[in-house]
Parts: sequence; structure tokens; C-alpha cells
Amino acid sequence: MSKKILIISGSPRKNGNSELLCGRFASGAEEAGNQVETVFLREKTIGYCLACDGCQRNGGTCVRNDDMADVLGKMKSADVIVMATPVYFYTMDAQMKTVIDRTYAGSVDVKDKDFYFIVTAAENRQAMLERTIEGFRGFTSCLNGATEKGIVYGIGAWKSGDIKESPAMQDAFELGQSV
Ligand SMILES: Cc1cc2nc3c(=O)[nH]c(=O)nc-3n(C[C@H](O)[C@H](O)[C@H](O)COP(=O)(O)O)c2cc1C
Repeated sequence: MSKKILIISGSPRKNGNSELLCGRFASGAEEAGNQVETVFLREKTIGYCLACDGCQRNGGTCVRNDDMADVLGKMKSADVIVMATPVYFYTMDAQMKTVIDRTYAGSVDVKDKDFYFIVTAAENRQAMLERTIEGFRGFTSCLNGATEKGIVYGIGAWKSGDIKESPAMQDAFELGQSV
């Protein structure tokens, strides 16, 4: 059955390592007959959650008028959400964390989703990326019916494009195919 897949690419680097892995995941998923949309956070203006609770009082509309309403709408309507981030100081980047915080306005409707995580780092030790993955799990543990389905570990990638030499490119393609 064709699934609606939303890829959220969190890197500020155009054609960077995580973005390249997002592309491989998308190619695999499209080849398998799914519908894929990629949101590049580097193209979006999304401010921090203000913790004003305005959204809790007015039916889930954030007081901030920026690109997050559109991203949240896409998250709600997707069957599958792929979250991709570079590792910054052994956790996700601020762009991705900001999106997660802003789902506060409607995370109750981000329900029954399958999740995939894509992480890239200069680091060669895969275990050192677990803190970043645990950050994603902190988010999915707050959602109803979230299922973690797979992870691409893009280790050993420092400069933009280094990931092209990594088996993670094939891992991402195959994981996309398997959705
Ligand atoms: C601000 C900053 C912090 C970083 N922190 C780490 C880190 O803690 N561990 C690591 O292995 N790589 C770190 N890196 C390297 C990136 O994770 C690496 O270059 C990654 O491939 C970037 O992915 P991208 O090309 O998708 O942006 C950092 C890079 C930047 C710019």
C-alpha cells in the first residue's frame, strides 16, 4: 500500500550529508511506490516555542505566525515521518529541536505514525550517536501510537559530501524501500 512519507531535513547545509541521505531514503521509498515530500528546514522560518500556552487555550493555533503551522499540518497528515539531523555537540541541531518543541501546539494529532531517524556526524563511533537518537525518542515517547521503524547512522562524515563514500547511502536507500 502506498504511504505518505514526510521527510524533515534539519541541516542548514544544502546538499550536506544528512540531506544526501534524505535523498537516498526518498529514492528508495518512491521506487517502492510511496508518495514522498521533503521539507528542508533551512528554507523555513520557524521560531522557538514561547511556552505561552496560547495554543492550549485556543484549540491548537500557535501565536507565532511562521512556517511551523504548515510543517505541523504535514506531520499530522503523513503516515511516516523521517527526521534527519546533523549531530551538533552530540545531540540534534537546534533547527530540529525547535520543530519538535513547536509541535506542542498539536502533537496530540501527530498520532499513529511510523518514524525513521537519519543522523550524520564526523564521529566514527556509532554508539556516540545514541544520545541524538535518544533525543528523538524523547519526542516520540510523548506521541500517541508512534512506532520507531529504523535508523540511518551516517558516521565518519565531516565535510559536506563525505557521506557519499559511506555504506549509509545504501542503508538509507534500502530503508526507504522497506517502508
Ligand atoms: C556546530 C557543529 C557541531 C558539531 N558537533 C559535532 C559533534 O558533536 N560530533 C560529531 O561527530 N560531529 C559534529 N559536527 C560535525 C557534523 O555533525 C558533520 O559535519 C555532519 O556530517 C554534518 O551533517 P550535514 O552535512 O547534514 O549538515 C558538528 C558540526 C557543527 C557545524
